[in-house]
Amino acid sequence: MSEIDQLRGEVLAAVTAASDVPALENVRVDALGKKGRVTGLMKNLGTMSPEDRKTFGQQLNLLKTEIEDAITARRATLDSAALDAKLATEKMDVTLPVRPELKGSLHPISQTMDEMAAIFGAMGFTIAEGPDVEDDFHNFTALNFPPGHPAREMHDTFFLPTAPDGNRYLLRTHTSPVQIRTMLSEKPPIRVIIPGRTYRCDYDMTHTPMFHQIEGLVIDTETNMTHLKGCLQEFVRSFFGVDDLTIRFRPSFFPFTEPSAEMDIGCSRQGGELKIGNYGDWLEILGCGMVHPNVLKSCGLDPEVYQGFAFGMGVERVAMLKYGIPDLRTFFESDLRWLKHYGFAALDVPSLTGGLNR
Ligand code: DAH
Repeated sequence: MSEIDQLRGEVLAAVTAASDVPALENVRVDALGKKGRVTGLMKNLGTMSPEDRKTFGQQLNLLKTEIEDAITARRATLDSAALDAKLATEKMDVTLPVRPELKGSLHPISQTMDEMAAIFGAMGFTIAEGPDVEDDFHNFTALNFPPGHPAREMHDTFFLPTAPDGNRYLLRTHTSPVQIRTMLSEKPPIRVIIPGRTYRCDYDMTHTPMFHQIEGLVIDTETNMTHLKGCLQEFVRSFFGVDDLTIRFRPSFFPFTEPSAEMDIGCSRQGGELKIGNYGDWLEILGCGMVHPNVLKSCGLDPEVYQGFAFGMGVERVAMLKYGIPDLRTFFESDLRWLKHYGFAALDVPSLTGGLNR
């Protein structure tokens, strides 16, 4: 047997015998490392005649590839055996009861958004989403905020550094840009709600730099303000669980709606305590209106054919009202005691038939 054949036999046997990754690595170093046996034979090539060097060199290269392939294959076998062993020891029994001290709860924001989705879902709305990082077109221009319009300043926008494409991206200041994205990508009839994060550079008892909004958009050929009114009345009555809750509309201004309104619900502030219901006092709850013809045009919709309504509200604000949470900032402090107190059972999905909050 030639020297090469003998070496092949020994190394390949060692590869097969290697029982774990470090042992296999030792075999590799022994054969192919700087001071390895194959490398050693390679070094001898210099002392050989040209013909011998050619045949011997080719055989050595072949041997080297063969050993490398054997090591790779063995490595794959060892890796998969190691993974199997790990999976076997890390097996868990999902039927074990939950340890009470480890029980998680749903954040009131998630709960509130789930409740809203259940109510609007029953009215036939679906959920639409868009990116947190927006461009000027979707956040402002297409929503009928002309360049230089003072309403842009009201939003205390977080701008990103100018991008290589020349755009000045920003963190969306409201969920309304997703109205634009929806109208550009879907054909009417449209009936969506848009929950999501929004950002403004502001911080005090009633403002945080990140907060949540939920937006509504309906576009069809015969949509008018009575639809808006009926839809929002139904929503607040279900959400606050007051069957005959009265609502009131006050004229307002938003660039993207005409006419625009703010909606109030009945409440009482007697004795410094806020109660939702028909007690003669009023509480502002959301902004709304009929989608402005310019907005429809920005999205390629003919305002002579299509109309629609939109509304937007702050999720934290209505959560605070519904669940008696006094300070907005506590929503984002991740204080476990707060989460335990205001959190909700993680497995109870809100529904109109099963109950919104249990
Ligand atoms: N985007 C408005 C804001 O953040 C809220 C809003 C008002 C949304 C009226 C609407 C609307 O869709 O019709 O202040």
